[in-house]
Amino acid sequence: DWNAGNVIAEQVERIRAQVGDARVISALSGGVDSAVSTALVHKAIGDQLTAVFVDHGLLRQGEREQVERDYVASTGVNLITIDAADVFLGHLEGVTDPEEKRKIIGREFIRAFEQVQLDLVAEAKAEGEKVKFLVQGTLYPDVVESGGGSGTANIKSHHNVGGLPEDLDFELIEPLRTLFKDEVREIGRELGIPEAIVGRQPFPGPGLGIRIVGEVTRDRLETLRAADAIAREELTAAGLDSEIWQCPVVLLADVRSVGVQGDGRTYGHPIVLRPVSSEDAMTADWTRVPYEVLARISNRITNQVPEVNRVVLDVTSKPPGTIEWE
Ligand code: XMP
Repeated sequence: DWNAGNVIAEQVERIRAQVGDARVISALSGGVDSAVSTALVHKAIGDQLTAVFVDHGLLRQGEREQVERDYVASTGVNLITIDAADVFLGHLEGVTDPEEKRKIIGREFIRAFEQVQLDLVAEAKAEGEKVKFLVQGTLYPDVVESGGGSGTANIKSHHNVGGLPEDLDFELIEPLRTLFKDEVREIGRELGIPEAIVGRQPFPGPGLGIRIVGEVTRDRLETLRAADAIAREELTAAGLDSEIWQCPVVLLADVRSVGVQGDGRTYGHPIVLRPVSSEDAMTADWTRVPYEVLARISNRITNQVPEVNRVVLDVTSKPPGTIEWE
């Protein structure tokens, strides 16, 4: 019988044997896989592990705090946060092409991570120690998709925390390699990671950067963040989290439409709700969210988020639509 406690005990032994007294680095994305693999390695080797979290300025409301406060409190992981919002937004200035955005965000992510890595390697060296291992949250389906090879599958050239510096002389620790997502969540719960992180819906590596159609700016991010927080809050309150695979909230920053509010005419932007049901994100259908819930989300967003005067619903399956708009 499968049992989270047994898997944890087994992995802890295995990780200790693999690592010895070397030091280990892990990149946290805020997502489930990196959160659980990092916590597992921490359980095995404690402060020999340093976790790194890159704040690229494209996170959703409360995500950074969730990692810095709740995750650290529940696991005791030694965390370094890199404040890279200025750098990322600087490079994204004037960029509207989706692929271009993805490339820039992926590239800057690796740069930011490598910089910390070099610092940690230098620090360890000064103390006569060695940084030798990288943690990756590779799951069993990733292994199968990539033909059994090592590392994270990247069939869609998606930006992931995995697949980092191949040129550096590191060995990988992949404690989730034999597991499915549900099992990973079970292990996360057993390790005491908060439900808000363990039960989290998928969120793309490039974050809100690919949910603003048009140029990514601070103001637009603030608008989208506010709308997204409202949508998430209402969907959760309505008990729809288990039915919905994920619900991208998209800001059409280059579109304006006329509206009316109070005595005045408005000329604002539309927000798109994209709730989808899916098994594996390869195909998806749009979720039939009850009208009352949609109405509440729409009312709150148009009342509480300046710049937004219209909320629209995406009723496209995948294919032909992808889940994300960019
Ligand atoms: P699409 O838009 O291709 O998305 O239907 C399928 C799933 O992948 C997620 N996604 C990403 N995940 N890095 C990620 O880690 C990415 O660059 C990325 N792009 C899309 C998307 O949220 C959905 O779950």
